[in-house]
Amino acid sequence: MHSKLTSSRCIISGTGLFSPTETINNDELVTAFNSHLINQTPDMADEERNKLLSSSAFIEKASGIQSRHVVNKQGIVDSTVMHPVLVERADDELSLQGEMAVAAAKQALKNAGKQAADIDAVIVACSNLQRAYPAIAIEVQAALGIQGFAYDMNVACSSATFGISNAVNSIVAGQAKAVLVINPEICSGHLDFTDRDCHFIFGDACTALVVEHSETVNKTKPAPSFEIVDCQLVTQFSNNIRNNFGFLNRSEENSNPRDKLFMQNGRQVFKEVCPMAAKHIRSQCEQQDLDPSTLKRLWLHQANLSMNELIAKKVLGKAASREQAPVILDQYANTSSAGSIIAFHLHNEGFEAGEFGLICSFGAGYSIGSVLLKAL
Ligand SMILES: CC(C)(COP(=O)(O)OP(=O)(O)OC[C@H]1O[C@@H](n2cnc3c(N)ncnc32)[C@H](O)[C@@H]1OP(=O)(O)O)[C@@H](O)C(=O)NCCC(=O)NCCS
Repeated sequence: MHSKLTSSRCIISGTGLFSPTETINNDELVTAFNSHLINQTPDMADEERNKLLSSSAFIEKASGIQSRHVVNKQGIVDSTVMHPVLVERADDELSLQGEMAVAAAKQALKNAGKQAADIDAVIVACSNLQRAYPAIAIEVQAALGIQGFAYDMNVACSSATFGISNAVNSIVAGQAKAVLVINPEICSGHLDFTDRDCHFIFGDACTALVVEHSETVNKTKPAPSFEIVDCQLVTQFSNNIRNNFGFLNRSEENSNPRDKLFMQNGRQVFKEVCPMAAKHIRSQCEQQDLDPSTLKRLWLHQANLSMNELIAKKVLGKAASREQAPVILDQYANTSSAGSIIAFHLHNEGFEAGEFGLICSFGAGYSIGSVLLKAL
């Protein structure tokens, strides 16, 4: 337990990003999908089958996605496999999620000018955890040589923003001075690459942030500092994005393997989440006496380009430029909770002290988390 610091201003002082080296573009993904379909439907007439084929043109038009990073390409693009193929690791080896997390965390520490000894809490916040326990966060804590406490949490696409909020709460409560929030997202593991409606949606990546008390910030660090002015969280139950994978699957009489992977009603999600997210951000700005049109940047969750353009327009009152609402989903696809943080990590330059920006996630639950930032 630490002595309480004199005020409770919390700062994002550094970020990190781990991107798997392998990438799959839309053409490669579509070739695998279509070959698999042809193999599965030998007796179907070409005319019928052609209606079920996937296409790169559709994917780019419907989502804005062109390519994605993945932890294993070979298995996904092999039409006889259609999922990532990973080697099971021994219990005394660092797990895959742990490895991604350590890589992103080291970069965030470097950018924040911090050592492991300066950190006293680790939160691993993501949509899918590769095991139930021990927590990936505790494994990462040990791998980095961090004292204090660590835990895993999952609020689907909003895991990172809810994680930031938890980090702030721990600092304000005096439980920690500096917290690593890490989002190792292996979304290719929960994606059905044989489902035309969603086979193109996700990619893999890991982001990390150092959230710390203003009094401990390293003045000579390379990364810019952003004060966390306000975190607003909201959830509203919906089955429109759902995955029934869980530890009771073995005990339940349900032979349907499809619902143990990601499922969504994309159109409904689009219709319901866009107004919800825009209203959430506008009401947060109102509470902070801030005109939303003055937000210099919106680092939005990266799932669908039209969705982001619509939300940004509703928030800013006019169409947003790419500088105002950066897009990374074209090269990363939807990386769940990591998406808005990748946008923040890659596009946090050019701020004058006192200017505002906002990170906002939205996704399964539904869950929305928005973090209002002021450049220092
Ligand atoms: C998923 C999403 C990209 C689909 O885009 P859409 O414009 O809604 O497309 P639809 O699913 O309505 O499909 C339109 C048509 O294209 C077809 N189609 C679907 N997938 C296709 C593919 N891969 N290739 C070619 N055609 C396809 C559909 O069958 C449909 O045909 P129809 O009009 O003859 O019925 C979009 O709804 C989305 O991104 N929604 C938000 C999802 C989201 O943010 N989820 C959060 C996840 S965490």
